[in-house]
Amino acid sequence: MICQWTLRVAGLMAREGCLVFGGSPGWFKGLGLQAQQRRRLSLHEYLSMGLLKEAGVSVPNGLVAKTPEEAYKAAKEIGTEDIVVKAQVLAGGRGKGTFEGGLKGGVKIVSSPEEAREIASRMIGKKLFTKQTGQQGRICNQVLVCERRYPRKEYYFAITMEKSFQGPVLIGSSQGGVNIEDVAAEDPEAIVKEPVDIVEGIRKDQALKLAQKMGFPTKVADEAADNMMKLYNIFVKYDALMVEINPMVEDSTGKVMCMDAKINFDSNSAFRQKKIFALQDWSQEDTRD
Ligand SMILES: Nc1ncnc2c1ncn2[C@@H]1O[C@H](COP(=O)(O)OP(=O)(O)OP(=O)(O)O)[C@@H](O)[C@H]1O
Ligand SMILES: [Mg+2]
Repeated sequence: MICQWTLRVAGLMAREGCLVFGGSPGWFKGLGLQAQQRRRLSLHEYLSMGLLKEAGVSVPNGLVAKTPEEAYKAAKEIGTEDIVVKAQVLAGGRGKGTFEGGLKGGVKIVSSPEEAREIASRMIGKKLFTKQTGQQGRICNQVLVCERRYPRKEYYFAITMEKSFQGPVLIGSSQGGVNIEDVAAEDPEAIVKEPVDIVEGIRKDQALKLAQKMGFPTKVADEAADNMMKLYNIFVKYDALMVEINPMVEDSTGKVMCMDAKINFDSNSAFRQKKIFALQDWSQEDTRD
């Protein structure tokens, strides 16, 4: 695995004019870097969350629903009083998006299974328009129904490839839950980085240092670091170009949780990541690619 990975990095680094791998081009531009254009696969949040859960990362309980009735049943099964219904659309900024039909917001908090069904009926089969989708919007064919957690504080965490560090880098910010491009533009000092030696792998002290720099309180920094190390394992195992958790939170019970996950995979790895590439949702592809 290490050899394969080292070769992969060498290969990626050799590409013409590329300074950065992964991440959204916009915010790396904001940091004065140039983003690489390459094909990548993105998975829906519910699938990414499944990978996180499998790797032992803390995520809210959730179930995917393809019909309003399934959303009702999912909310009942989850059983918490407050539930979040999240549009599964491959585009950023869902929370601030608008559905055809007029529903505002692709992330809605509801307080009963009946309400989950109602909201799901206004999402499923409709297009969601966000800053990233442009005028054409993206169809929402399913929703993630999950338990509501109560964040005490929201953080940003990502792992990506960066040439200036000759490999993977952990990126963190105390300002999570907001657009990281805006943080990069307005308060770049609020973004901290920790490079990882690709051969040696991630060390606990590195993850802990980053968690502390991000502002995690001492009593939860260890748990945050533990989650970061598991996320790094996902990054390596699946040939990811980027793993982005926005927000990673400390919730009202003091537990660290990943509330949203975006993972991009390198299309050059499709041949050895068949399980992942089989999950691609072609309804989300657009002609711009
Ligand atoms: N399970 C949850 N419980 C409570 N609040 C949540 C939950 N999931 C999301 N939220 C809140 O909703 C906000 C937006 O959710 P999320 O990050 O998943 O979507 P988004 O950022 O709008 O979409 P995208 O990541 O596609 O840009 C989060 O910052 C968080 O405050
Ligand atoms: Mg988010």
